[in-house]
Amino acid sequence: MDKSKRKIIIAGNWKMNNTRPEAEKLINNLIPLVKDANCEVVVCVPYTNLETAIKLTTNTNIKVGAQNCHWSDKGAFTGEISAKMLKELGVEYVIVGHSERRQYFGDTSVTVNNRAKAAIDQGLKVILCVGESLSERENGITENVVSIQLKIGLFGLSESEMKNVVIAYEPVWAIGTGKTATSEQAQEICLLIRNTLKSLYNQDIAEKITIQYGGSMNADNVDELLSKIDIDGGLIGGASLKAEDFSRIINATK
Ligand code: PGA
Repeated sequence: MDKSKRKIIIAGNWKMNNTRPEAEKLINNLIPLVKDANCEVVVCVPYTNLETAIKLTTNTNIKVGAQNCHWSDKGAFTGEISAKMLKELGVEYVIVGHSERRQYFGDTSVTVNNRAKAAIDQGLKVILCVGESLSERENGITENVVSIQLKIGLFGLSESEMKNVVIAYEPVWAIGTGKTATSEQAQEICLLIRNTLKSLYNQDIAEKITIQYGGSMNADNVDELLSKIDIDGGLIGGASLKAEDFSRIINATK
């Protein structure tokens, strides 16, 4: 497989962090530090920061994403935000199926699939997260878990719609723990994801799709992780909250 066919994407997932003044400061600090990046740079910010982020990043190389979306355009879904609402604001990316959503807010692969389809229908780019828990890894079922999350998560998405899909492999035990998967572990599952996509779709889609790694990725381990043939970027939590740290990861892709 030819890595040069793929877009390297480094996305920050701010999670539930940053008030508006904090977001303004972080983005204003980030803009000059990443202006010469040769990868796609995305910041996935809380809903309350979307407008600010979109305004500040206009005419820069930074794209803005949200961290979730609902599958209906509107309706009685207290506390939810629709993909249509995100699109209207000018959002480009949306994360779906993050393990924190699955763990704390009852998201299942079926609801993740509904969210992904709605986002794609609205013309958003989807970052679909998959990954096993520690006990699943210890029980030797990582490959089953990841391939099932992928098959259900992508159900009903056509070949042409896959152009707007990015997969993020995030082992749950590596998220926010400082415990990164080794580059070999990450490569193994990213390859499994690519092979699953080949069987679900075709070789061309499998070859062109961006597969990110996420889970305690930082400026010290990014080189090693990205040196692997099937790892095309990162979804970065903690290390995306400081402009300097995040820009070091982005600029490591040069
Ligand atoms: P982390 O989070 O980089 O803080 O481990 C990654 C993520 O949850 O996307």
